[in-house]
Amino acid sequence: MTAQVKTDAILSKNCQFFHPLSFMKNFAGSDILSTADFSREDIEHIIEVSEQFMPVALKEKTSNLLEGKLMAALFYEPSTRTRLSFEAAMNRLGGRVLTVVGSEYSSLSKGETLWDTGKMIEKYVDVIVMRHPQPGSPREVAESANVPVINAGDGSGEHPTQALLDVFTMTREHKKIDGLTIALVGDLKYGRTVHSLSHLLSHFDVKLILVSPDKLRMPAEITDLLKKKKVAFEETERLEFALKNAQVLYDTRVQKERFADVNEYEKYKHYYVLTRNLVEQFNPKLTIMHPLPRVGEINRDVDDLPGAAYFRQAQNGVAVRMALLAMVLGKA
Ligand code: CP
Repeated sequence: MTAQVKTDAILSKNCQFFHPLSFMKNFAGSDILSTADFSREDIEHIIEVSEQFMPVALKEKTSNLLEGKLMAALFYEPSTRTRLSFEAAMNRLGGRVLTVVGSEYSSLSKGETLWDTGKMIEKYVDVIVMRHPQPGSPREVAESANVPVINAGDGSGEHPTQALLDVFTMTREHKKIDGLTIALVGDLKYGRTVHSLSHLLSHFDVKLILVSPDKLRMPAEITDLLKKKKVAFEETERLEFALKNAQVLYDTRVQKERFADVNEYEKYKHYYVLTRNLVEQFNPKLTIMHPLPRVGEINRDVDDLPGAAYFRQAQNGVAVRMALLAMVLGKA
């Protein structure tokens, strides 16, 4: 959260949806830019609030909690889940959405700065959700816009709302995160989801197994953080080691769009392929997660295993994004 709350964005602090005593911290008017800004208490609070939104996300209940509120979805990089789950979250809570897809159809293509973009869009909406290829760019918009800005993925930087839905999913699948051994597998160098997730998991008593080709290892910035926070971790190239030892395997695709040399990408794109046989042979109880999209690193035959959680994970994203929107808009 940015330290300075955006005063114009603070609305009613009266909770319309939950029992007021269930809240510990007020996120109203705050930006959500980086997982480095969250404490364990923040994470647990968001998990708790997200759980309360699950009936609405699952279409079992309806709500008009965000009626009258307008969200701008600025997606300057491709997305299916993040954009649609934010839009679904806003719409299902009675709010409305304005969407920009691709910078070529916005005035960024004419040379308008992100700063000016933020200054303009704050006049139209109550909250901005933004994906952009440049790491750190949501912060630039957040510094100019006097409405909350939510980072929906900034290049190879961060994806904080994905990481929050990831820890929410781990909590739903395993009741608690403390005590888990979690393998992060694939492109740990460019995969922003594993960077953000590592930040959040560093607040918990977990063991991490970092599985990647040597060229795609976790950046030193993240392994240094894990050392500083005394999180036990091991780096390996061997998927089998993770299969034997982890309770949760968090798979990722190799990030084609971040490679300068396409031949290099081709070399690594199917370095690890998870199959039903592998899971059944080594660890039938394994929980398998993936931020999606998958592009060949998890076989379709894995989908029917009870531990295949990646589609549940994507659905959980609606509840987490409902919670975040409601919280920054002062309604939860
Ligand atoms: N997990 C995720 O960020 O998916 P999208 O790129 O489809 O939004």
